[in-house]
Amino acid sequence: MEVARENKARNQIELFVPGRLCLFGEHSDWAGFYRITNKEIEPGRAIVTGIEQGIHAFAQKAQAFEVFCTLPGMEQHLHCQMELQELREIAAEGGFFSYVAGVASYFKEHYKVQGIQIQIDKMTLPMKRGLSSSAAICVLVARAFNRLYDLHMNTLGEMQAAYRGEQRTPSKCGRLDQACAFGVRPVEMRFDGNDISVGHLRIKGDFYWVFADLNASKDTVKILADLNQCYPVAETEVEQKVWEALGKDNKTIVKQAVTYFQEGDAKKLGELMYQAQDVFDKKVAPASPEELRSPVLHSILKDSTVMRLVYGGKGVGSQGDGTVQFLAKDEVCQNKLVEYLKQEKQMEAYAFTIRQQRSVRKAIIPVAGFGTRMYPETRGVKKEFLPVMDYDGLVKPAILVLLEEMDRAGIEKICLVIGKEDRRNYQEFFEQELSEEHLAKLPEKMRQYEKTILRIGKKLRYVIQEERKGFGHAVYQCRNFTNREPVLLLLGDMLYKSYEERSCVEQLLDAYEDTEKLTVGITETEPEVVSRYGILTGVWLEEQKTMLEVAKMVEKPTKERAEKELRTKMADGREAYLTVFGNYVLTPAVFECLEKNILEQKMTKGEIQLTDALDEVREQYGMRGCRINGRVYDLGNPVSYRETVAEYGK
Ligand code: UTP
Repeated sequence: MEVARENKARNQIELFVPGRLCLFGEHSDWAGFYRITNKEIEPGRAIVTGIEQGIHAFAQKAQAFEVFCTLPGMEQHLHCQMELQELREIAAEGGFFSYVAGVASYFKEHYKVQGIQIQIDKMTLPMKRGLSSSAAICVLVARAFNRLYDLHMNTLGEMQAAYRGEQRTPSKCGRLDQACAFGVRPVEMRFDGNDISVGHLRIKGDFYWVFADLNASKDTVKILADLNQCYPVAETEVEQKVWEALGKDNKTIVKQAVTYFQEGDAKKLGELMYQAQDVFDKKVAPASPEELRSPVLHSILKDSTVMRLVYGGKGVGSQGDGTVQFLAKDEVCQNKLVEYLKQEKQMEAYAFTIRQQRSVRKAIIPVAGFGTRMYPETRGVKKEFLPVMDYDGLVKPAILVLLEEMDRAGIEKICLVIGKEDRRNYQEFFEQELSEEHLAKLPEKMRQYEKTILRIGKKLRYVIQEERKGFGHAVYQCRNFTNREPVLLLLGDMLYKSYEERSCVEQLLDAYEDTEKLTVGITETEPEVVSRYGILTGVWLEEQKTMLEVAKMVEKPTKERAEKELRTKMADGREAYLTVFGNYVLTPAVFECLEKNILEQKMTKGEIQLTDALDEVREQYGMRGCRINGRVYDLGNPVSYRETVAEYGK
């Protein structure tokens, strides 16, 4: 269904941008900005997350700039020429359309773009509740321009464009508002003068958050005016305390919070929320005593029913009696808390859950190849359905082992490139329930596993490769499936074994999070076999020598050429050869390049090659190699198949 809808609207993209909530470090964004004039001030640090509530829209290219809002009760339509003056005027007027026009004017001024048409059809985000609905709409417009005109901005770039756009409106947005661009996942932001850096947080387990409107009042402008008095020079004791709270205390708290998220320690994280509130009350509130006394906030934080359901809680944003946030003990407590706040306290309350999540949500596995090297076996059974014994002792088709690894890494949708004749096989295996008769014969462990198969089956989508024109051609068939998001690519006839706690897929995805560039898994290979593989070399980006800025990639080089040009210095001082491991994170640019090569019939050895496209993208935008701590088992040729069956799963 999904694939059908994406095909129908080939030129239309679908967008969702959430609201954002500052979990820790409020006010340190603007305080860190004062480092421009006074370096004694600590850089700001905050943990910010997108929430589940947000704005949904469809967008496509157009001549003019057009926004349709079809939300019930808010039906509005903006149509204007893609002209700088007109857009800036609409932005300056204020109101709902000022945000979209502000961002559009920014793109008109800085990029060679024409117009776009946006249709906002769903909005689950409450407005004016400290959740930055305005920043969300600005990020949505920035993302639409970026994706539709292939501007190759990364998420930080979209954030900056959204910020500059919003600055053209009368609204006063903060520097951490646009963090919603990163989706429903917490990021750590640092504010040093004009510079902002963003790092993803690694999360273990689930965190059950609740936030609620306190139904009281606060004066954000007054709070900000009072607190800004303490900068850039702290003269009184009260002012020095504010510096301490937003500076070194905040640094300690944010560092602690990062650790607790990583360790999955919700209890300690909750206690830290109470501590952060305490520091705020003791050291920041005295600088704006009328606004920051916050009686409603404090009474709900101390409410005995609430305290039984949560590990901790604190204020939100500028604080005062605006919004409160809690970390509930579990999902049941989260639901009870929302009900309690709604029913007993008449507050608008919302739940959202922070889960282990990544920016790569989708994956591709091409499995349409005939498998010449495994003939005659492939006359009957596809390579990916060959049986291997997994680490849990179950015998599985190889593809299921791969899919489980993706599932564990948090991948939400997986597109398989298959041949026409393969559809039934997959449907029967992944969608059909086992008969009662067979189920009854299975022991409990296997009956449970049956549910895993069907659950993973729900994540699968299929595209048909009509003509076998090679690996690159197979990958290209998933272009619509990607919706211009980065995607994980695994080969259908390989299995991956990690030598550390994180799987090979997780190692690669973690590496991608830090760069947002085309990233390929790499591994060392023996000098004797260099002429069988693609060999790459480049510059290591850190001392441990795990991340490589790839400078050169040569497919199947001669031994002499490899020795002369392709050796790389390893962490232990040896010189070695690096080859692709067999897992990749592809960016939208790779699909553009494949499209061009298909149109121009640019083939190597009679096939559309992925390597050709990767190398072109590397040249234009750069490519990272991530050394994977693990090894690959191949199912694609008889000799390595024998080894895989004997070794894998031991
Ligand atoms: P291979 O290069 O191993 O090709 O493909 P193959 O056809 O499977 O096997 P041989 O070389 O003929 O023995 C690597 C992966 O790409 C898929 C394959 O199914 C395999 O998972 N592939 C390859 C496609 O989906 N379509 C193609 O046109 C080629």
